[in-house]
Amino acid sequence: MQFSDTSILIIISSLIFISGCDTGPKSAKGFSLPEGDATQGEQTFVELKCHACHTVSDVKLPEVESELSIGLGGKVARIKTYGELVTSIINPSHRLAKGYPSAEIESDGQSKMKNYNEAMTVDQLINLVAFLQAHYELEEYTPTYYPVIP
Ligand code: HEC
Repeated sequence: MQFSDTSILIIISSLIFISGCDTGPKSAKGFSLPEGDATQGEQTFVELKCHACHTVSDVKLPEVESELSIGLGGKVARIKTYGELVTSIINPSHRLAKGYPSAEIESDGQSKMKNYNEAMTVDQLINLVAFLQAHYELEEYTPTYYPVIP
C-alpha cells in the first residue's frame, strides 16, 4: 500500500495528538513518590540480585552468578525520568529497553526481567530509582553542523 505525503502527515499528527492527550484517569498526571536514598538503593540492588542481569556504570557490585548483562546508567542523550525508571522496574514490559538484541530482552514480547511487585516495598523502589538515576550522565549535545551555502 502506498501512502501519499499528506496521509503520512495526517497519521503522524494524529499519533502526536493521541499521545499528547494523556490526561485521562489512567494518566500519570499527579504521580509523585518521595525522594529515595541512593546508598540504600545500591544495597537493595544487590539484595534483590538485580546485578544478576544488570551492570551499573562506574559501580563495582559484588560477584553474582550472572544471567544477562544489561548496562544501566552511563551516558544518555536524556536522563531517564523518575516515572520512566519506576515503570521499568514495576512494569518492565511497558516499554522494552532500546538497543539490545530482542532475543536477549524478551520472550513473546514480554520482558525477561523478573517481576518484583509482590516482593518489593515502596521504600526499596524509591531507593532503587534514586540509586539508578544518580548514575545516568547527560551526554553533551553536539549541534549538527550545516555549512552555509553562499
Ligand atoms: C532476569 C534478569 C533481570 C533481573 C534480575 C532484573 N532485570 Fe532489569 N531488565 C532486564 C531486561 C532483560 C531488561 C530489558 C528489557 C526491558 O526493558 O524490560 C531490563 C530493563 C531494566 C531497566 C530499563 C533499562 C532501559 O534502558 O530502559 C531498568 C531500570 C531495570 N531493568 C532495573 C532493574 C532493577 C532495579 C532490578 C532489580 C530489582 C532488575 N532490573 C532486575 C532483566 C533483568
